[in-house]
Amino acid sequence: MSVLNELEKIKEEGQNEISDASSLEGLESARVSFLGKKGKVTTILKSLGDLSSEERPAIGKKANEVRQFMENIINKRKKELENEVLKRKLEEEVIDITLPGKRSPAGKRHLITQIIDEITDVFIGLGYKVAEGPEVETEYYNFDALNTPVDHPARSLMDTLYTQKDGVLLRTHTSPVQVRVMKETLPPVYIIAPGKAYRKDVPDPSHSPMFHQVEGLAVDKNITFGDLKGTLEAFAKQIFGADREVRLRPHFFPFTEPSVEVDVSCIMCNGKGCRVCGGVGWLEILGAGMVDPNVLNEVGYDPEEVSGFAFGMGVERIAMLKYGVNDIRLFYENDLRFLEQF
Ligand code: DAH
Repeated sequence: MSVLNELEKIKEEGQNEISDASSLEGLESARVSFLGKKGKVTTILKSLGDLSSEERPAIGKKANEVRQFMENIINKRKKELENEVLKRKLEEEVIDITLPGKRSPAGKRHLITQIIDEITDVFIGLGYKVAEGPEVETEYYNFDALNTPVDHPARSLMDTLYTQKDGVLLRTHTSPVQVRVMKETLPPVYIIAPGKAYRKDVPDPSHSPMFHQVEGLAVDKNITFGDLKGTLEAFAKQIFGADREVRLRPHFFPFTEPSVEVDVSCIMCNGKGCRVCGGVGWLEILGAGMVDPNVLNEVGYDPEEVSGFAFGMGVERIAMLKYGVNDIRLFYENDLRFLEQF
């Protein structure tokens, strides 16, 4: 068989194999068997040099034509097969866009966290820093260093949750953070300390064995009672509204002298007297006072050099007043119907 005939036969054979290829892999092996390094067409092209100069031009031309022809039909078949693959894939992975979507509800911060953040923002605006302390505390930081004597009723087993370990308890207020901060830093100190506190209370509409407080402490040269009052007024107006007034009533706390309880004019009736304020026009929002010299001495500050004020407020109480919530237990039941409202 002449080489020309052979090429014609290879061309036909190739055409059949290529159009029969039913996968990209099949097509590739057909290509290799004709146009690959050892393929049938390639072998003839490589042997052109062995031919006589009479034969070479015609056979060379034909061989190149065949190669070109095969390349073309391989590319065409390749496109067809690729389209088939894509079509199959699209059919298999079909998405029914008419199906209703799954709604994933967006979470939000708990009301207590929101109030803590609001209070924190107010004091950060006044130049305070945020401090933290442990919830499992020692009697020393929770009571002794805060000038609270051993026979003080707050220390009794009736009121305080003690651990099995001697002298270790769940902090009953955030005030121990004051002591921890002062022992670690030199004045001036301007901090607030938000966090959890624990007391041996049976849950009822106004009591919970765990609740939240925000403690505040400012110690510097020449801090006066006027600074305390001005600071608390600024705080009350930002949290409860610009019309609020603040009233201080004498009180007693072991760690402050003098001590006060602080009321804000009733947010419901603006001081006229209503059901929320029990007719008195005022709502108690926090305890405060000038830091007792005994506390300053205990942390190594000189009461002749520096003075300070401190305050502590119940976060739940502020949330209840602000939003008219009448049962503290609602904050901990995790009922979304309640929590979603805020
Ligand atoms: N620790 C007090 C309590 O839990 C609140 C308090 C009162 C904190 C006066 C203070 C303060 O820092 O000066 O009832």
